[in-house]
Parts: sequence; C-alpha cells; structure tokens
Amino acid sequence: MAAARRAGIKWPTVCGGHGECAVCFVELVDDDGLQPLTNPEKTVLGRSTNRPRHGGVLRMACQLRVDHDLEVWRIGIRPPKV
Ligand code: FES
Repeated sequence: MAAARRAGIKWPTVCGGHGECAVCFVELVDDDGLQPLTNPEKTVLGRSTNRPRHGGVLRMACQLRVDHDLEVWRIGIRPPKV
C-alpha cells in the first residue's frame, strides 16, 4: 500500500493500514521473495470472503513490505492520471 501511494495510487483502507479491515487486499501473481503472512493477515484474510480471481495469492497491501517489482490485480484501483 505504501508503494502504491508513493506511485500516486490511492489505495482503499478503512483501518488506516493497521491490519484490521482487509479492505486493502490485493491479489499477487506470485509471492516469491515476500515475507510470510503476518498474524493480522492470517486472522483477517481468514475471515474475509475475498478469494483470488486470477489464480494468484491474496495478501493485505498494508502488511506487505515490498523491495522489488510486483504484478498485482485489484478491482477498483486506477493508475494515477498523468
Ligand atoms: S488497510 Fe485495513 S487491513 Fe490493510
């Protein structure tokens, strides 16, 4: 979510990035090189009705620490206007 915001993309949240709402969920093409699911992700995504739609892996964007390019899917997110 922080990387998206740095790129000028408004990312949805209800809890402000505290790992409580799952509104920030994102589907990753793959999660190679990322840290394992955090405890908030395990808890909140376990309760969520969201499921991967493209065969990827669901994560919570607010919990991800990204240090390389990722390909993601997320309904409702638009690239910033240039
Ligand atoms: S912003 Fe609420 S769980 Fe990520």
